Amino acid sequence: MSAEAQGSATTGAGKPLLRALAGEAVWPPPMWLMRQAGRYLPEYREIREKAGGFIKLCTTPEMAAEVTVQPIRRFGMDGAILFSDILMVPWALGQPLRFAEGEGPVLDPLRDAAAVAALQPEMLRERAAPIMDTVRLTRMALDLHAPKVTLIGFAGSPWTVAAYMVEGHGSRDFHTARGMAFGDPALFGKLIRTLVEATTDYLLAQIEAGAEAVMLFDSWAGMLPPSQFRRWVIEPTVTIVRKVQQLHPSVPVIGFPRLAGPLIGEYVQRTGVATVAMDTAMDPRFAASAVPGNVGLQGNLDPLALVAGGIALETETRQILAAMRGRPFVFNLGHGIEKVTPPEHVAALVRLVRSGG
Ligand code: CP3
Repeated sequence: MSAEAQGSATTGAGKPLLRALAGEAVWPPPMWLMRQAGRYLPEYREIREKAGGFIKLCTTPEMAAEVTVQPIRRFGMDGAILFSDILMVPWALGQPLRFAEGEGPVLDPLRDAAAVAALQPEMLRERAAPIMDTVRLTRMALDLHAPKVTLIGFAGSPWTVAAYMVEGHGSRDFHTARGMAFGDPALFGKLIRTLVEATTDYLLAQIEAGAEAVMLFDSWAGMLPPSQFRRWVIEPTVTIVRKVQQLHPSVPVIGFPRLAGPLIGEYVQRTGVATVAMDTAMDPRFAASAVPGNVGLQGNLDPLALVAGGIALETETRQILAAMRGRPFVFNLGHGIEKVTPPEHVAALVRLVRSGG
């Protein structure tokens, strides 16, 4: 059996993204973009306005499924990522959340044992049910209209989600959360254990509803010194990945330990993720040397090169493609797409990657 036939036999439909995530060096590489559904698209802004609030949009399956497929319809990426947010897990655990206009997410900060004890893991499946309906609706739409496109589910990693839960909002340095991790590791550990269970359950529910791959966003992994990175980033991820692999061995997990730097190799080796996403600061050649050749790499164009377009976009994209040729690779950005990105630059990027650079 040829390598290609083998890839499609193990992954079912022979979708390019699933083949790459299963360790095949597909070329030109499959691609999708972090935050590909969002405010840079007029069709997103229209639905967002109709929905009213952001949480309302995430919990209205017809609307959330529609914005999930909008970028596929317009640009034809290989992956559609569920439209939701990493903070929907704390929301489903009962922590009050709002998305304030121009301010980003705001949570009632969680600072003591009583607040951790008040979380309601038993409510997660019920509160997250509309999100699973979004997954089901999206999967049906893709199966019908875009059968080569892979549906990606996701969650935030326990460390990053805990950082928002403790801090109560975005922060440059997440002082309070890092302080609690050092100052009261028993309490912080209890929060992390709650999140490991909730996140595992939440990802399994997405897979049961039709997600074909899942991604763990650890946006603030790089804030931690190595000992704390091992304890709060690597160990919780090990537990989640192991459980997902046990129950769904054919569903690849993508890890995104943002700004992990030289710890990327240890992260991959310990956690067993199928693919690791590189942030904008990661040198793809370093990642290629630090990560075993059967593990996929994903990334890592700077979203600002996409805003700039033209020669900056072409040069950066070609450099990444050249470094990744010959190994399992998924083209993506190194962080979420910027609101000011001209949609025609995204179309140009898709053409360039499709040409193989
Ligand atoms: O990638 C996608 O298209 C899927 C949907 C998705 C969103 N957020 C939608 C969103 C995903 C995968 C996320 C992940 C997420 N959310 C992360 C991890 C990745 C990263 O960016 O580091 C984090 C840290 C969050 C938390 C979050 N959500 C912040 C900090 C903000 C405010 C920033 C902003 O751009 O306003 C959000 C809101 C949010 N999540 C928006 C979208 C499209 C914008 C809200 C709006 O439309 O008003």
